[in-house]
Amino acid sequence: MNRKKRTLHFRSVAEVYDQVRGTDRPVVDYLGYFFSKYCPHSPPVLDLATGTARYPIAIAHSFGIPFLCVDENASMLAVGRSKAEQLRVPLTFVKSDCLRLDGILDPFRPFSFVTMFNALHHFSDIPSIAYAIRHQLHPASGRCYFYTRVGDDNVRTIWGHYFPEFVERERHYLGKSSFSLSCLTSALHKGGLIVQECIPFEVYEKHTLDELLRKVRSYHFSTFRAYAPDELEKAIAVFSNRIRCAFPETRNDPTYRITHPSPMTLVVGIPG
Ligand SMILES: C[S@@+](CC[C@H](N)C(=O)[O-])C[C@H]1O[C@@H](n2cnc3c(N)ncnc32)[C@H](O)[C@@H]1O
Repeated sequence: MNRKKRTLHFRSVAEVYDQVRGTDRPVVDYLGYFFSKYCPHSPPVLDLATGTARYPIAIAHSFGIPFLCVDENASMLAVGRSKAEQLRVPLTFVKSDCLRLDGILDPFRPFSFVTMFNALHHFSDIPSIAYAIRHQLHPASGRCYFYTRVGDDNVRTIWGHYFPEFVERERHYLGKSSFSLSCLTSALHKGGLIVQECIPFEVYEKHTLDELLRKVRSYHFSTFRAYAPDELEKAIAVFSNRIRCAFPETRNDPTYRITHPSPMTLVVGIPG
């Protein structure tokens, strides 16, 4: 997705974005405990491509960790800012392209921790974003965390299993539907980050069929934009049939909630 399409996409989904997405509690707790333990009184954590800042808000709300949140999209930031104000959490927002941060964050640099949730695949040039992050991190002790899809994470989702061509049409992860760990490691390394560990998060979600269909129609994943409107309607019909076959309870009970896996991986990098 080029910059113009990306801006239009996130502008159009900003208001419903948080309503159609679940914030994964296990990763909120994992990072919240880690940041509290290792840097309780540190400068803020830098969250890049923050969107509506739902992860920084969740971590700040539960653990009191301050965040500096950067995104290029004014509409997504506006939603995040208003939620942070309501909840009175210690977040600061900056509107900027994450690849052009030179000088902007100097008063806060170097950061002990940088996070990026569900957004690494929006950067087609991984070495450049790695280089930009490395420049912000403490050279000796800084760590960055990418919460993303690696290996067969996307194939194993309910979309990968049942939504026609979802895996084939999702090509944002260095040409694949999830990052190949070896390709990602090498691309990050080119930008000066060494992958230190990968932590799998086996998250489960529960939704009715109607809620799943609402996610498609509100473009929960930008992947759904890769279907022409008539293709999307046909794919929705096939998906609905497949779900009714796989989960017969949904045929007679529209309130039946399907439990389905949403595997994610936390890729941890350090300056190389
Ligand atoms: C899928 S959303 C993820 C938002 C948030 N991290 C979350 O998990 O809810 C991707 C975000 O990346 C932002 N983004 C993509 N490329 C960017 C860039 N070059 N600079 C700043 N933000 C960018 C978009 O504006 C969007 O808000």
